[in-house]
Amino acid sequence: MRIGIGNDHSALELKAEIIELLEARGHEVVDYGTNSAESCDYPIYGEKVGRAVVSGEVDKGILICGTGLGISLAANKVKGVRAAVCSDPFTAKMSRAHNDCNILAFGARVVGAELAKMIVETWLDTEFEGGRHQRRVDLIMDIEKKED
Ligand code: RB5
Repeated sequence: MRIGIGNDHSALELKAEIIELLEARGHEVVDYGTNSAESCDYPIYGEKVGRAVVSGEVDKGILICGTGLGISLAANKVKGVRAAVCSDPFTAKMSRAHNDCNILAFGARVVGAELAKMIVETWLDTEFEGGRHQRRVDLIMDIEKKED
């Protein structure tokens, strides 16, 4: 799978570990930055990864900031994005199985590296269940259309 990754300054070390994990699992990683430790604005990277996912440039996205919140909120403003902040594997699994999320977000100041890796693996290994969940995801996406 081709996976886009984006982050702010708080997540450089954790991103490196996640990229290592993804590549070890045979994924191709596209790094949308930042790669500087200088304080930066997370919406820039949330938007970049959101647009990459929606355009099909990458199959899925992973976003990391201090909490996962700001960067996921930014990504969720891009039409077609369903980004979820997950601090545990159960939520990560459900965000795929029931919500068909196309972006996973988490906080470098919230989860340790080993938990983050478990979250990423669970998220990538879980398929969307469809069925009644498809109807609910469609209803979520219909809200975007009302905003046009
Ligand atoms: C940056 O200090 C911090 O605000 C950011 O990483 C993130 O947690 C925002 O939601």
